[in-house]
Amino acid sequence: MTDKMTDSTRRVPLIVANWKMNLTASEAAAFAARFLPRMQPHVEDLGTRFEVAIAPAYPALERLGQALKDSKIQLAAQNLHCEESGAFTGEVSLAMLEDLECDFALIGHSERRQIFGELDDVIAAKARRLEGSSVCPILCVGETLDQRERDATLAVVGSQLSAVLDATGDGLASQLVVAYEPVWAIGTGRTATPEMAQAVHAAIRKTLVSRLGEVGHGTRILYGGSVKPSNARELLSQPDVDGALVGGASLDPDSFAKLALASLETS
Ligand code: PGA
Repeated sequence: MTDKMTDSTRRVPLIVANWKMNLTASEAAAFAARFLPRMQPHVEDLGTRFEVAIAPAYPALERLGQALKDSKIQLAAQNLHCEESGAFTGEVSLAMLEDLECDFALIGHSERRQIFGELDDVIAAKARRLEGSSVCPILCVGETLDQRERDATLAVVGSQLSAVLDATGDGLASQLVVAYEPVWAIGTGRTATPEMAQAVHAAIRKTLVSRLGEVGHGTRILYGGSVKPSNARELLSQPDVDGALVGGASLDPDSFAKLALASLETS
């Protein structure tokens, strides 16, 4: 029996679409109209054997949320600001996401870290903001190619994870989802082999269990980076790979449906 299957800590696979800066609100509604019929035959299993969430750009959150109502497909935001409210032009608060009934928010995506210069302390503040709220954080961690080549992968991922665990408490532990996304695999078509992914996921699991105790066995660790229908099954079969965070391959409803259903086969 794999760790994935122990009764007290059964982890329901979670597949998350990260649309990044793609798809308008109208396009999101058109996506839902094609995607939901593909999920309909499996609705009984949604939430129990697998979970699916979509993170559109902010302007599409409300319209997509309406389209997903009663579908059991969950809504995610790609980011949020760490402060409660105020003079932060261009930013979006937790209350705004709660009002739209978002289930998840990505924090620390490598594009936020690399392009927008977000550092661990800001990401930790976002995690603190989400702690105890109805929006669960999906904390993204991952090494660059240079860091992997210098054999620094586990140190980098470990310190990104610790920055958040050090700043938060038990309130966050039960809602936390971690996404391991090697930066060199994002949008490049290069994927970590299942063995490479599992090795890092196992190290993350070890840290989670040592920091959070039993709860850490139940924390879902998603893999992200060029996940597609053709490689999903193998990745999701790894004992500590509990789902996927999918960029490019989530923009097409048929391909994202295939990915979501792959998780059902491996759950
Ligand atoms: P990708 O993006 O699937 O296009 O590599 C993944 C991500 O950045 O979350």
